[in-house]
Amino acid sequence: MVTIKSGREIEAMRKAGKLAAHCLTDMLKLVKPGVTPLQIDRACYEWTKAHGAVPAPLHYHGFPASLCISVNDVVCHGIPGTRALKKGDLVNLDVTPILDGFHGDTNATTVVGAAKSSDMPPELSRLIETTHRSMWDGIRQVRPGSTLGDIGHAIQTRVEGAGYSVVLEYCGHGIGRAFHEDPTVSHVGKPGQGMKLREGMTFTIEPMVNMGERHIYVEEDGWTVRTSDGSLSAQFEHTILVTPTGFEVLTLREGESISE
Ligand code: MF3
Ligand code: CO
Ligand code: CO
Repeated sequence: MVTIKSGREIEAMRKAGKLAAHCLTDMLKLVKPGVTPLQIDRACYEWTKAHGAVPAPLHYHGFPASLCISVNDVVCHGIPGTRALKKGDLVNLDVTPILDGFHGDTNATTVVGAAKSSDMPPELSRLIETTHRSMWDGIRQVRPGSTLGDIGHAIQTRVEGAGYSVVLEYCGHGIGRAFHEDPTVSHVGKPGQGMKLREGMTFTIEPMVNMGERHIYVEEDGWTVRTSDGSLSAQFEHTILVTPTGFEVLTLREGESISE
């Protein structure tokens, strides 16, 4: 069931989204050679608690950590471990604080030891930039009356146009009092198809883009999702509100501009 948020619920979602953005900004600062994902997990736990919130991933269907950290060929749901990050690793951090009962969900991909895009190997910056742009292509489709298919189509067009592939098995999702609500937001689709968007809906857009084939598998741990061909995978995620005239990005980070 799709929930339409009331004015008060939207205000609460704004606060949760803002906190998620701030959390992601601060956790990204910890991504450096020699740091272990487990150290970032501990920092995320403490940060979230110190800000009066709860990390939604912790114990979610048994997930053992406060955020997902997905390195290189890990597509999503990476469990933070003790293997130190090294220069050149492709790393995604995905955070989801719960503030006053509402969730904010956002993630970003970066390269260890690269402060800016020009410090990255060109094939990594191209994958990251394409994935990031595809998320924004999807976001720009959001307005009352447009459809989920419009979002998926915009993302798919960008990604496949660059010669990469879109992961089909994991999708964006409605979000609010629950971490994962209806609707399922596919990152592929056809214009005009699927559910029509309505003012007051809140959902995530979070394309996972593989440099090689789209196929994935889940490791023995029941969580870690990897590309079947071992190719690198990138992802970006924002939590979005459908407004009367378009969209509001609830998880926009300081200094991040819309529609890049
Ligand atoms: N944050 C992820 C998402 O974007 C979900 C992680 S579920 C977890 O939907 F249990 F792995 F944390
Ligand atoms: Co999500
Ligand atoms: Co997420």
